[in-house]
Amino acid sequence: SDVPVLTLDGPGGAGKGTISRLVADELGWHLLDSGALYRLTALAAERQGVNFSDTAALAQVARELNVAFLPCEGGAQVLLEEEDVSHEIRKEHVGGWASEVASMPPVRDALLKRQRDFARPPGLVADGRDMGTVVFPQASLKIFLTASAEERARRRQAQLQSSGSHASLPDLLKEIQTRDERDMQRAVAPLVAARDAITLDTTELTIPDVVARIGALLTERG
Ligand code: C5P
Repeated sequence: SDVPVLTLDGPGGAGKGTISRLVADELGWHLLDSGALYRLTALAAERQGVNFSDTAALAQVARELNVAFLPCEGGAQVLLEEEDVSHEIRKEHVGGWASEVASMPPVRDALLKRQRDFARPPGLVADGRDMGTVVFPQASLKIFLTASAEERARRRQAQLQSSGSHASLPDLLKEIQTRDERDMQRAVAPLVAARDAITLDTTELTIPDVVARIGALLTERG
């Protein structure tokens, strides 16, 4: 389609969520938080008592997912079966489940069309792991956001603290490394920069720095 798409891929904690939202707000474009779809699939499956080794059942959960993203101050309210699960899906253990179900090709297939449907005028900012490689290979601009694992653990800790939760830095670092490993090693849609992606290492950059840099790249591309 002709809808412009900006993809932002990279490991967890690189700042994709925050950056994607700010860039989408600035442009007035739609936002796809694809990680939330994997988290929601995992949470829904868990609630339905689906066995995580039953790939076909998990794919069915993904296909039948009844979710809504309601834009609100500072983000989106995420509904699963009309229930607000915005906080629930951000929990570390749900992220771990998400990365498990995300390694299953039938689950990824089941979510593919749903993700592509987010591309509507005037444009889309797509946040994930395989936005530029698999879901939107024709994207107008592809960014791969990274940061050192230590920095990502620190950011994650700050984020948890601001929402009233706590986790130790070593635990978070271990969690992040395990998840990176699984996301990079999986056979289908592994976490990797698209050949035509521009890599931005955000370890030493502030959020406004990164937003400005992406804005400049978009302008350059016309
Ligand atoms: O980005 P977020 O931490 O919410 O993603 C949760 C998990 O979902 C990731 O660790 C990854 O395994 C999976 N994911 C994916 N493909 C995407 C987005 C997320 O496999 N496009």
